[in-house]
Amino acid sequence: MEKKIQVVLVGAGNRANVYASVSLEYPEKMQVVGIVDPDPVRRELMRERYEVSKENCFESVDAFVKREKFADAVINGTMDHLHVETSIPVLEKGYDLLLEKPFAVNEEEMNRLTEVAKKCGSKVVIGHVLRYTDFYRAIKDRILSGEIGKLISIETCEHVNYHHMAVSYVRGKWRSEKLCFAPMLLAKSCHDMDIMLWMMKETEPMAVASFGADFQFGPHRKPDGAGTRCMRDCPFVDECIFSAKTNYLATERWLQYVWKPLEGYGELTREMKENSLRTDNPYGKCVWDFERDGNVDHQTVIVNFANGATGSFSMIGGSAKSERNIHIVGTRGEIKGTFEDSRYVVRRMAPSTEAGYVEEVYDLGAKGDTIGAKGGHGGGDEMLVLDFLDYLNGNPPSVSCATLEDSAISHKIVFKAEKARKSGSIEKLS
Ligand SMILES: NC(=O)c1ccc[n+]([C@@H]2O[C@H](COP(=O)([O-])OP(=O)(O)OC[C@H]3O[C@@H](n4cnc5c(N)ncnc54)[C@H](O)[C@@H]3O)[C@@H](O)[C@H]2O)c1
Repeated sequence: MEKKIQVVLVGAGNRANVYASVSLEYPEKMQVVGIVDPDPVRRELMRERYEVSKENCFESVDAFVKREKFADAVINGTMDHLHVETSIPVLEKGYDLLLEKPFAVNEEEMNRLTEVAKKCGSKVVIGHVLRYTDFYRAIKDRILSGEIGKLISIETCEHVNYHHMAVSYVRGKWRSEKLCFAPMLLAKSCHDMDIMLWMMKETEPMAVASFGADFQFGPHRKPDGAGTRCMRDCPFVDECIFSAKTNYLATERWLQYVWKPLEGYGELTREMKENSLRTDNPYGKCVWDFERDGNVDHQTVIVNFANGATGSFSMIGGSAKSERNIHIVGTRGEIKGTFEDSRYVVRRMAPSTEAGYVEEVYDLGAKGDTIGAKGGHGGGDEMLVLDFLDYLNGNPPSVSCATLEDSAISHKIVFKAEKARKSGSIEKLS
């Protein structure tokens, strides 16, 4: 008989809400029984949504852990640089943990959390949602079946479209390492490094190199005559591809980020939004006015594996369409696909055929990148939570489950890749 898992949300923001919404869909499997967030507006919004009692709402983790343990697990959706300091006390209190990625922002933090989790014996799962999508799971299963032989090479890339790039990595919360402590490769692409290592699990990474730069942002690239705020004083407001007016008012993209300053004001009118973008909303500022602090908008990482296989990953911010591609070559065949198309092809060597190979196309039907609580990350968000609940119910971790130890390998690659990019070196992993 499965137990209903009771969870406390630490950091009651966008991501915690996405995960917590599984409790509304499957009330027999999960219940939100506590909330920890210093922001009173967020605390109250989530308290009402999940019908949590006032006495189980806390301003800080310190206050929360002073109470006797009253739930099974914590879902930690704080920002990147707070993950370790807000997770250690809850692990020490005996809670299991679903922790957002990146779980640490440097190697020292990463080792500290890994040691504490080991000592406490808690179950810790990291939010690598892509592993749970039909697309990546199907490819993983084909590799495990051995049908393409031993893996020689894996090439992956992530194209981050121009409006996502601007809202998150130029204007937004991840715009500067000084602000969020996570470079774009960690904040955005630790998922992709995780996918690479998950697919290549039969071997281990040995060395990494990386190149990257900022190609199109920063004050020195600001077009002549551009204003300070799109909707206040910019003559290019209707033609600029990054215009706040076009992206956030006309098409209402990225609501969860752009209207955070107006949270708690109830239903927002167009006038309130326009006024916010014209005055103090950071998303209303000229995209070129943000200091870049050494951040990149595109980066390539190459990895050498212990068995001689190689891997490459490119993150390219500023494309027209967001897209993740993968191409894996093995000694008996290859797999190639695009996540957003939910489609991949398997080619097997067949010397007796005219082409020299046979090919099968697999169309999984679902769109890979729908935004929303349930469909988020191609359904991966919900599947991850359900799998976490299963794990807490005593079932063994699934093939997709990213434990702390698993995730630590991909985090380490990112830290080394950043070192390699900044110093022009080749970094060894051991
Ligand atoms: N898995 C994914 O695909 C995915 C996608 C987007 C974001 N993320 C990650 O999820 C995390 C959260 O992102 P978000 O957009 O939901 O952020 P958010 O800003 O919406 O939420 C963070 C919340 O933490 C609260 N907070 C701040 N300090 C706190 C503290 N000391 N204790 C408790 N709560 C505190 C804030 O008030 C806020 O409500 C980030 O690490 C981000 O990188 C993961």
